[in-house]
This record gives sequence, structure tokens and C-alpha cells, in this order.
Amino acid sequence: MKFLQIIGLSGIVFLIHAFRLDTSLAHSEPPVAKAMEERVDSVLRLMTLEEKIGQMTLFTSDWAVTGPTLRENYKADIKSAKVGAIFNAHTAAYNRELQRIAVEETRLGIPLLFGFDVIHGYKTIFPISLGESCSWDLKAMELSARIAAIEASAAGLHWTYAPMVDIARDPRWGRISEGAGEDTWLGSRIAEARVRGFQGDDLLKDNTIAACVKHYAAYGAAQAGRDYHFVDMSELVLRETYLPPFLAAKNAGVRTFMSSFNELFGVPATGNRFLLTDILRDEWGFDGFVVSDYTSINEMVAHGVVANDKEAAELSLNAGMDMDMQGATYYNHLLELVREGRISVQRVNDSVRRILRIKFELGLFDDPYRYSNPEREKARVFAPEHLEAARDISRKSIVLLRNENRTLPLSKGIKTLALCGPLAANQSELIGSWSGAGDYKQAISLLDGIKNKLGSNTKILHTEGCTIEGNDKSGFKAALANAKAADVILVAVGESAGMSGEAASRAELGLPGVQEDLVKALVATGKPVVVVLMNGRPLAIPWLAENAPALLETWFLGTQAGNAIADVLFGDYNPSGKLTATFPRSTGQIPLHYNMKNTGRPMDPGNKYTSKYLDMPNTPLYPFGYGLSYSTFAYSNLQTDRKTFATGETVRISVTVANKGPYDGEEVVQLYVRDRVGSITRPLRELKGFQKVLLKNGESKTLTFALSSDDLRFYHNDLQFRAEPGFFDVFVGGSSDASLTTAIELK
Ligand code: BGC
Repeated sequence: MKFLQIIGLSGIVFLIHAFRLDTSLAHSEPPVAKAMEERVDSVLRLMTLEEKIGQMTLFTSDWAVTGPTLRENYKADIKSAKVGAIFNAHTAAYNRELQRIAVEETRLGIPLLFGFDVIHGYKTIFPISLGESCSWDLKAMELSARIAAIEASAAGLHWTYAPMVDIARDPRWGRISEGAGEDTWLGSRIAEARVRGFQGDDLLKDNTIAACVKHYAAYGAAQAGRDYHFVDMSELVLRETYLPPFLAAKNAGVRTFMSSFNELFGVPATGNRFLLTDILRDEWGFDGFVVSDYTSINEMVAHGVVANDKEAAELSLNAGMDMDMQGATYYNHLLELVREGRISVQRVNDSVRRILRIKFELGLFDDPYRYSNPEREKARVFAPEHLEAARDISRKSIVLLRNENRTLPLSKGIKTLALCGPLAANQSELIGSWSGAGDYKQAISLLDGIKNKLGSNTKILHTEGCTIEGNDKSGFKAALANAKAADVILVAVGESAGMSGEAASRAELGLPGVQEDLVKALVATGKPVVVVLMNGRPLAIPWLAENAPALLETWFLGTQAGNAIADVLFGDYNPSGKLTATFPRSTGQIPLHYNMKNTGRPMDPGNKYTSKYLDMPNTPLYPFGYGLSYSTFAYSNLQTDRKTFATGETVRISVTVANKGPYDGEEVVQLYVRDRVGSITRPLRELKGFQKVLLKNGESKTLTFALSSDDLRFYHNDLQFRAEPGFFDVFVGGSSDASLTTAIELK
């Protein structure tokens, strides 16, 4: 390291000692924390203001199709210590080279931090996050994040921009695909699982990476579902609905936060002191760092709260921002802002300290190259156990929406199968809109998944029939000819991957193009038709919900998509996924989520002056929590161990769930509560717990849930978080419209 050369022998001894984390102290918290802070300070003391600003600057690297290429100016910025973190650079060899410049060619040799959007997998791609959340399998979601971290950390990465925990209740918003759906409680549990998965139990291990919970905050509430749009809500709604997953991630140990693009209370989140300092630092005590979203500091000019980038830098810094992603506002203006006395050196030091802390925690000062190991990269990427785990969670994420006359599962003895639809043989869409370093050519298409399953015994007649978008029906003829010659028709329709994700809002939520017409023509043949949906959001598909003999929601399942779907289609896996976001009947019903409020005039079909539409029911097409199995599950014997309980006490609620056959299968048993009378209005139902249970054909089990008075707390108008005495209805079942109910009273 050059930096070791410039400070002389005694300095070397001091700094080596100062930088290395003494793991012998690892089990006694305070000394370790103290030692860490001393090391951080020992570096900070050596830094010039310019070097400090470099640590607060994050730039993207760009890369060509054949692999990453380095832009000269980034190389120069790294070399002059003007950038402390790089994102989008990946692969062990490439990142090693960048790291070498930082470590060997800068005055202090402070290692770079490499970030990347490892959202649902690095190379082995798992289902898009919304799809994966439908597995309701926290262990599997933790494992998928763990595997993503194992692969990413071997490929030179230290830091992922995940999990995205924005609660989303408007499926027009394309980024609903990146989160865990509409429910705050479930979203919080999933946030914890994903943070645990990425970060493991020790960031010092070379196969763990720092997570970044995003987008802080309330980004999912963009008006009209239009991305980057205006957000308006009360502080009560913010705290009750949108903040809990962030707090859950923080409590699970997440080391970084990313601010969001939207405004909140009239101030962009990126310059919002209330969010970044009052809540995050003062209330929650977060000691990691906050990065802006991509140029979101500069965008405060367009928001109209500052006149130029320099003012934007000042506003964001004074609000509590630590690192500028890509906008170069600190790079260009911070030195001047400090010299003019508009930003204090103390404020800069606080941010740099937070950033260095994470670099120390990752062990980068011990060995800056520990994450760039080409052999490990080769061995870990696409490891067989990763592919196996991907197949497992993919099939768990599939939601069976409809299955008339037991159309599914299909027999493996089918003689002739017609397979059509634009997504039937497609690979490029399967890995979703945000698949990091994923390679779609590695993805198993539905066609290949079926071939893998059935071998050559079944004749597969494949033709697309139509494209995802566009009006061309000329392919229908061939599709229908195949259909007529087949015993069973499978049609794979949906969205392209780019129709969800960032900057991908849709005003209409039906199937694009002429796909529904294709399905209609196939259903009209009278043959068994299985519709396989691939999409990144809830769709409004009432015709399919009433007419398709079988309807299978498969999202974008990633690398193992085709194999996983084939497992479900042919009965090697009994579907167990449940929706985590409501499917509306029509865009006009949005926002529509299960935990809405009753109103003073709840819907009464016989009374016009009640809360309803003239032209459509209030109910969704498919509610939150919904999903069928090849078996049926019966719920009975809902009991509580007491009818009344006091603050600080817990009620045990038990229910018997029986698998009525004809297959073994898993059921997600869900528990909801309704607070009958509150000092402020309460939702009709709130999810408070669930258990995913495997029941053999004919088996029944009694499950017990514990509900404490703390679980019944909510934010009041004075923003106090407390439970109120009174009666609570408890509902248990396989969906948010569960009807089995009992009541308890909090005294
Ligand atoms: C997105 C973030 C993402 C970042 C870096 C932004 O456009 O909003 O979610 O992490 O880019 O790629």
C-alpha cells in the first residue's frame, strides 16, 4: 500500500494495528465497538477534506456486453481519491483491478466499496421479490438472499441495494414487483429475513454483504401509481403503514439506507431532515450510512425546493444524507460549501465516519481483495445447490388462482400437448426487470421445463400465437391448429419484464396486446386450457378469472422458471403460494387492499347510499392471502385459551386445519384481527400472524398462535403507539377473507 510508505515505520505499526479488526474481541460488544470507533477515527484523522468528500461520493461504472469496461474518468477519480464507492462494477477480476487503484495508487489507500443491485439473485436468479413473497416462506426468502450474497461476494461485491421494502398498494406502480406486496406486517417480516440473508450473522465473513434498505420512505405511495410521482399522507399513515418495514430492517441490523425519489410533507425524501435525522438517527439510533437514490439530490432542483445543485447538496447534507449516488453534487460543491461555512466539518466527519465504519465492518481494511476471488467466483456462481434452491423457492412462489374441474395437475402421460403464447418458449423475460448480473440465456423456459419433465413421450406442438404487445393475430391460426390436434392446451401470456420495475407504470392492467383474444380462441375449442401467467404485478383479468379452466400465476421466476412451473403443472409440487397483493377487477377500483376501513356507510347491495360502485362489486378479483392448492383445506375448532386478557398478557389461539386431499400439500394459515371499536377508525382486518404447514393427504393438525397485547398496538392521533382495551375479532383461514371467527377482549 502506498499509504504505508508515506507515514514512516512507527506510523505503519500504528496504522496496521489501527485498521485491523481484532476478532478476539468479537464476543464482547462494547470493547469491539470502541475498538472499531478508534480505528475509524484513526483513519479520519489522516484525511484531508477532499479525501473525505471522496468517501461521500458514489459513481457508477459502465460495462459493455462482453463485460465491464472502465471509463477513464472513473479511473482518474479513483486514483485521486475523489470517489470512495463504485456501483455496477462486478466480477472478481474487474473489481480487483479497481480496488488495486484505490489501495495502491491513492495517498491513504482506503479501499473502495462496491455496490450493485443484487435484488433477487446475482447470477442464479430467484423469483422477482413480489413473486417470492407469495411463498410466505421466510426461511426460503432468507436463503435466496443468502445465496445472492454468496455469489455476489465472490464476484467482487460488498453491498447490495436491497431489500426494497416499500409497501405498495397500487399495482399500476411498476415497482410493486420489487417489494413484498401490500401488507406492512408481512413486509416487515420479509424485510428482516432478507436483511439476515444478505448480511448473515457477521459482515466480516467473506460471503456476506451489506444490505441497503430502500427507498426511504413512502415511495410506494406515488399518486395514481405513476413512478416518481407526488406522495401525500398523514404522519399517522406514514408511521403505521410505510415505516415499519424500515424499522424492522434496521432492527435486523441493516447497515445502510437509500433515500427515495418522492417528496414527503412537501420536502423530497432526499433532503428531508424529519426522515433522515429526526426519525432515522434520533428515534431509531441508526449508525450506518444513508445513500441517496440515483441523482435524487440533483432532482431536488426539479422538485422546486432548491435553485441549483449546490443548494441541493447543502439541503441533503443538512438533512442527514451521507453519500451522493451518481449526482456528483458533493464532488462538485461540498468543498465550497464547507469553506463558505454552510456545511460544518463536523457534519462531513459524521458522514465519513459512518461510511468508514461499514468498510471496517466488511473487513475491507484487513484485506481489500477478500471479495474479489476469481476461483471462488467460478465455484460459487451457479453452484448446483443454488440452482436447486432457486427451483424450490420458484415453485413455492407460484399461485394457483383457478382450477376448474381439477384441470391441474396434468398427467405426465399426455400424448399431445399444445404449447403457445409469447412467453411459452421465452427466456429473456423470465429473469425479471431487475436481474443484476443475471444471464437470461441460463433461464429454463417453460418449453424446456416441460421437455425436461416429460421427455420424448409427449408430443409438444409449439407456436407463439402472438406477441406480448401489438395487434397482429396472424399467428392465431397455427396456434388453433395445434390446439385442435392436442389433448391439453397450455398458453403462457403476461407482460414483458420491462413492463414492471422502475419507470414502468401502467394505466391499464389487463393483458397487453391481443393475448386475451388468443386465450379466448383457445378456450372456445372446449379443450382443457391452462393459462400460465408471467407478469410483475397484479393484473385486472376478470375474463380469465371466470373462463380459463386453470389459471396459474408464475410471476417472473428466474433461472429455474420452466422447471419450477413444470413441477407444479405435472403435480410434482402442490402449489402453496398465496397472493401478497390484491388483484383488482378493474383499474377503477385502485387503490384496493384487504385492510381498508369500513366507512360510515359500509357496502349494502340493497341501499344505494352506501360505499360502492354502480358498475362493479367492491370485492377484488382475488384477495390478499388467496391461493389454491390441489388439495382442499378445512378449518375448524377455532379456540382461545382465554376470552379476556390484560396489557402485557398473551392469548393463545388454536385452530385445526385438515388436508381433505387428494394430495399432500402446504397451507399458509393466516390470522387476522379486527379492532371493533377504536378511538380512531381501524382497518377491517389486519394480518397478525401466519404459519406455513405441510399436511399429508388426510392429515390434520392443530396450530397455535400467540397474540399479545403488544400485537394490538397502533398509532393514535397523538402518534403514541399503544393498544386500547376493547373487543377484537379474530379470523383464521387460508385467505384474508377467512370466515372462521372468534372474539377476545383486551381489558
Ligand atoms: C433505483 C434504485 C437503485 C439505483 C441504483 C435507482 O434508479 O431507484 O432502486 O438501487 O437506481 O441502481
